[in-house]
Amino acid sequence: MRHSQPADMTTASGWEGLKGTALVVGQGGIGRALVQKLGERQPQLELLWLGRRSTPSLDLSSDADLNQLGEVLTGRSPLRLVINTAGWLHDSQRGPEKRLARVERTGLEQAFSINAFGPILLARAVESSLGHGQSAWFSSLSARVGSIGDNRLGGWYGYRASKAAQNQLLRTLAVEWRRRLPSVCVTLLHPGTTATPLSAPFQQGVAPERLFSPERSAGHLLDVLAQQKPPEDSGRFLAWDGSTIPW
Ligand SMILES: NC(=O)c1ccc[n+]([C@@H]2O[C@H](COP(=O)([O-])OP(=O)(O)OC[C@H]3O[C@@H](n4cnc5c(N)ncnc54)[C@H](OP(=O)(O)O)[C@@H]3O)[C@@H](O)[C@H]2O)c1
Repeated sequence: MRHSQPADMTTASGWEGLKGTALVVGQGGIGRALVQKLGERQPQLELLWLGRRSTPSLDLSSDADLNQLGEVLTGRSPLRLVINTAGWLHDSQRGPEKRLARVERTGLEQAFSINAFGPILLARAVESSLGHGQSAWFSSLSARVGSIGDNRLGGWYGYRASKAAQNQLLRTLAVEWRRRLPSVCVTLLHPGTTATPLSAPFQQGVAPERLFSPERSAGHLLDVLAQQKPPEDSGRFLAWDGSTIPW
């Protein structure tokens, strides 16, 4: 079956001068920097920045919040860009498991709920608002340590596995949307090690030049997204420099 090209695909990817709504989910370091960068680079976009502390709130573990998101998006300009930056690695109760003895059901459930179930349920919540026939981007932050092929060090069971599960869920989504919503590009992004609360306990030993500021990271991520063209690039797992990461 042949698909018609999205309306504004005459430019490289339809990214330049993108008009409509952009949704950034997650109010942490990278989320904040992305909102700022998008405001500078694409001031014509209507920015919606949601998380657990926003009004309305968007807790990715809450079906009520996800249902409400559909209503929030109805009546706004078409959704052209979604970037999910919500993620979980540690909290005051627990951190990443260095060895098997540390693996517990609650920690695994927490990691999977936010890092894997959250992004695919977010996709479901926003699907009917996406693009409206124009090109659109749905991206979510993954992590290189979620790569199964690249796992040589071990450890961090729940985080690794939940990011790998996210990758599979969104790759599956990309296959479906290539058929049903070919104007939408699904992209999994690794931001590089970035100085935020998520990485704070693990920054020792990271060479200064390899520890990005959230602003630098956000700039790289937007540069990479701008190069992705729906539908042919949909379903890729990419690092901050645009290189492909093995699944
Ligand atoms: N920083 C790095 O080095 C690095 C490396 C690779 C991948 N990543 C990925 O990049 C993404 C962004 O991380 P970051 O560095 O910006 O970390 P961060 O500053 O800790 O931000 C993470 C954000 O996720 C939010 N969050 C957690 N659970 C949520 C939920 N159920 N619903 C909605 N929001 C939720 C947190 O909300 P609250 O503010 O309400 O707590 C926090 O704002 C994550 O997916 C992370 O795995 C980061």
